[in-house]
Amino acid sequence: MNTKKFCDSFVWGVTTASYQIEGGVKDGGRGESIWDRFSHIPGRVLHDDHGDIACDSYHRAEEDVRLLKELGVKAYRFSIAWPRIFPGGYGQVSEDGLRYYEELIDGLLEAGIEPYVTLYHWDLPQKLQDEGGWTNRKTAEYFCDYCGVLFERFGGRVRHWITLNEPWVVAFVGNYTGKMAPGLRDFSAALTASHVQLLAHGMAVRLFRSMGLDGEIGVTLNLSPKEALTDTPENLEAAVRHDGYANRWFLEPLFVGSYPEDMWEWYGRQQVVLPEICPGDMELIRQPVDFLGINYYNIDYTVSDLSVWPIGFRTGFSGGNPMTHYQMPVIPEGLKKILVRVHNDYHPPKIYITENGASYQEHPDRNGQVQDDARIDYVHTHLQKAAEAVEEGVPLAGYFVWTLMDDFEWNTGYENQFGLVYVDRKTLARTKKKSFFWYRQVIDSNGAVLEENEEHDRR
Ligand code: FCB
Repeated sequence: MNTKKFCDSFVWGVTTASYQIEGGVKDGGRGESIWDRFSHIPGRVLHDDHGDIACDSYHRAEEDVRLLKELGVKAYRFSIAWPRIFPGGYGQVSEDGLRYYEELIDGLLEAGIEPYVTLYHWDLPQKLQDEGGWTNRKTAEYFCDYCGVLFERFGGRVRHWITLNEPWVVAFVGNYTGKMAPGLRDFSAALTASHVQLLAHGMAVRLFRSMGLDGEIGVTLNLSPKEALTDTPENLEAAVRHDGYANRWFLEPLFVGSYPEDMWEWYGRQQVVLPEICPGDMELIRQPVDFLGINYYNIDYTVSDLSVWPIGFRTGFSGGNPMTHYQMPVIPEGLKKILVRVHNDYHPPKIYITENGASYQEHPDRNGQVQDDARIDYVHTHLQKAAEAVEEGVPLAGYFVWTLMDDFEWNTGYENQFGLVYVDRKTLARTKKKSFFWYRQVIDSNGAVLEENEEHDRR
């Protein structure tokens, strides 16, 4: 591997999200979000965990900025909680909410860390959900108003904006499988929720451009290769559909300006109500972005199963791969595959890996150290594949580890620990794991240490 491929300006970072770390759900006049509501419905989240306190970052932002500084990251990707800015989704702006993020942003800049702000990482104001959430086109307009307030206040200081995080999860896991907030089970609603999110993205990009702000704007998708579990014609066909369902359904509107035809037809045949596309929608959605953010965790293996309406497949277990505690197979090659494929098929001007990481359950040992070699190995092997993708011409500009510290992992509660920093659930004390010190070396050496480790492994 030639890690020199990580250019000098390569952005090394970590990512978090507001609801997963902040807590302080009633502080500063914050309004209720769909995740507050959902996580308090018994049985929806493992162990009935919720984010009321989470990592208490709302009250410990300074300490967390110090951690980031010690980690040596060039960039911190975090999200802004919409209900902190507009407690009711629209209408009255909360100055307290703005001030919280202002202090965080100023603290980061003082520490020499570039803020990468995600505008929507799943915590929709509950008030908007009551009005139809992402199935209501008005939500896109409200999103744009909310973005306008942030652009106005933080434009110039924040130079990297991500409109949406993983709109596929929001649409389909939120509205079709119902495993995440708002927890609905309506496939047609999920399709509309994807369209309205894409509209919201387009409106925010257009507004950003019209304000002439310095910096860049893009969107983050969760992408992963979808492969047939076994090479039967049915499974091969289902894998193409799986790719259409999860990857192309977002990539094509954003980069081609239309929904994938095969999927549109398939859903039509399944009697699904397709989203209403109004004149101008697709042009709005296809506006050029400055970068694409990709979150990668694993490859999905597909098994044809026409009993699963309306998608006609399910995800199978391949065996043979090591598994994380989340039961995600560890397949670094998939990262390279998706990077090269997206580059070849859609040519985004620039790509960031905006999330990649692994959940393992390590706890401090007798000496108070957290020896998370499996996490180091995960990040190491994925970075090797990222470097190979760069060699193949992928314009990869940065890599962000998911995540800074053990946090609230949505419907799995606190069970999955992805952090470079361990968080004691009782005291909330932060303990740097071995991976924290290792990643710091990666950053310090701009990736060169990956090669040294490799040689060391070979010896
Ligand atoms: C992604 C989410 C992120 C985190 C990781 C593990 O889907 O964007 O918030 O929970 O999964």
